[in-house]
Amino acid sequence: MKVENVRMVLVGPPGAGKGTQAKMLRERTGLEHLSTGDLLREAVRRNTPLGAEAKAYMDRGRLVPDRLVARLVEERISSSPDGFVLDGYPRSVAQAAMLDEFLERAGRPLTHVVSVEVPAEDLVTRLGGRRTCRECGAVFHVRFAPPRTPGVCDRCGGALYQREDDREETVRARLEVFEKETSPVLEFYRRRGLLRSVDGRKAPDEVFRSILDILGVAVGTDA
Ligand code: AP5
Repeated sequence: MKVENVRMVLVGPPGAGKGTQAKMLRERTGLEHLSTGDLLREAVRRNTPLGAEAKAYMDRGRLVPDRLVARLVEERISSSPDGFVLDGYPRSVAQAAMLDEFLERAGRPLTHVVSVEVPAEDLVTRLGGRRTCRECGAVFHVRFAPPRTPGVCDRCGGALYQREDDREETVRARLEVFEKETSPVLEFYRRRGLLRSVDGRKAPDEVFRSILDILGVAVGTDA
């Protein structure tokens, strides 16, 4: 089912399931998934100048400076003509204002902002058990979404690894950064009448159905 002209932001704390939902949207609707976390991790892996600068912030659970992230996002949006799901951006009111300005200039304003809500006590468990495929980026959880063979990706057979910033003390720092820097973004979009929320405690398929409902895509189709 192809969905077009959706320009959407998924907001939520670390581990809320933004990446899981954005990947489902990409696979089932064709919308492009733009994750600043994935783009930054790729830059770190390739040891580009951007990656080298970003790494120190990411390892401490801090936000990478706006000037670096904004450029990355704007380049990718410019090459996504049909619609996109932003995952992990914007993460501060300053980033939200920059994004608004950029999209207004391009004549492509946001159409939806969805907040994925999960209580803090569930997030540490989710992040502690997360495993990601080194090859294709598929995300698993040792308890909630286990791979068929431990340590091996169901989809491509690649090795699964645990993200460095999923260590407990870094997770706590990321949760603090979310409360302080990112939660004001919710108010920013609420004032613009764009904000909707979904209960991220439910199973991934149920959360996905709620998001499709917000997008006005009929539930019960081949999604
Ligand atoms: P980023 O990669 O964006 O991390 P995050 O926002 O902290 O989000 P996560 O990827 O940890 O979680 P998620 O919500 O995607 O959850 P997931 O679907 O994986 O950013 C990393 C770092 O990069 C930042 O700390 C910062 O340094 C930097 N950065 C990124 N963007 C930036 C920006 N805009 N500005 C500045 N710096 C930036 O799910 C988590 C686990 O739960 C998985 O194991 C999954 O299987 C499981 N799960 C998912 N859904 C469910 C469910 N419904 N029920 C049970 N389990 C579930």
